[in-house]
Amino acid sequence: MPPIHAVRVAATAALLLLAACGRNGGPAPADGPGAAPADAGEVNLYTTREPGLVQPLLDAFTASTGIRVNTVFVRDGLLERVRAEGERSPADVLMTVDTGNLLDLVDNGQTQAIRSRVLEEAIPAHLRGGDGHWFALSLRDRVLYADKALDLDAFTYEELADPKWKGRVCIRSGQHPYNTSLIAAMIAHAGVERTEQWLRGVKANLARKAAGGDRDVARDILAGICDIGIANAYYVGRMKNAEPGSEQHQWGEAIRVIRPTFASAADGGTHVNISGAAVARHAPNRDNAVKLLEYLVSDEAQSLYARANYEYPVKAGVELDPVVAGFGAMKVDALPLTEVARRRREASELVDRVGFDH
Ligand SMILES: [Fe+2]
Repeated sequence: MPPIHAVRVAATAALLLLAACGRNGGPAPADGPGAAPADAGEVNLYTTREPGLVQPLLDAFTASTGIRVNTVFVRDGLLERVRAEGERSPADVLMTVDTGNLLDLVDNGQTQAIRSRVLEEAIPAHLRGGDGHWFALSLRDRVLYADKALDLDAFTYEELADPKWKGRVCIRSGQHPYNTSLIAAMIAHAGVERTEQWLRGVKANLARKAAGGDRDVARDILAGICDIGIANAYYVGRMKNAEPGSEQHQWGEAIRVIRPTFASAADGGTHVNISGAAVARHAPNRDNAVKLLEYLVSDEAQSLYARANYEYPVKAGVELDPVVAGFGAMKVDALPLTEVARRRREASELVDRVGFDH
């Protein structure tokens, strides 16, 4: 085994090379039986997602296509980074969470239009840019956590304001993007005035200040502080799969998930956020970028990717994680995500106007 120091130097050098030019040569695929062609080229992926989440997929993509994937994990400032790199950016695919982040890339001219039958058939139209500038890859449904002892089997987001829940609702800050997105969707469905009334009603029902994180809703239900709350579904997968006996596991076991729908719209389903991707404006390997995106909506990749973080596949008919499958069928809200994103500023202003967080 080489000394740790040498390993670190080698790793740093590789990172620097990748950061400098994004064309990390890396070892070419080995020759031999079953080896992929060596001339399939490469693709450069900039992603804000956890390495552990995407690496198995990228390995499978390389194994089936021979295309090497050079990955740059960008924790923050993806837009600033590609903007600073400009025309010389090696980025081919930009991958991140939240429609707002994807639209920021689009609005700043850092993406390009892609036409692909594979992508268009796999991803419903309201979950991608109409112009082919971005595509959802997984769904992050915003659901009701309910005390397991409650006799509830359906719920609407509007019901959160029902006085019968007075002092019984937990939720994080109204200004968190997960909540501004939900409130923005309510504005799109019901208008600003009705949404303001609703938000005042929800605030009047709060068991505690709107603060903390999504998992705290489950924690506080277990502690008897509240009976219901709103949070993302994937945290339940994480909690229920945590070490038995751990706090997180107990929180996850204390609740049941119900996927609310919007009563204000005939076609109102469950509100979702997304993870998604776009092809970069100056992609030097554009064709391989499209191939990577198309691979990411294959049945195999969709199932792997969604299951890695307990998210929901964007493509219909794909095998679900058992915990996620236990939440029952999902009817995704039919509002175009671009429409929801457009209302986020109004939603944020509304949160302040009703003093939701105070
Ligand atoms: Fe989250």
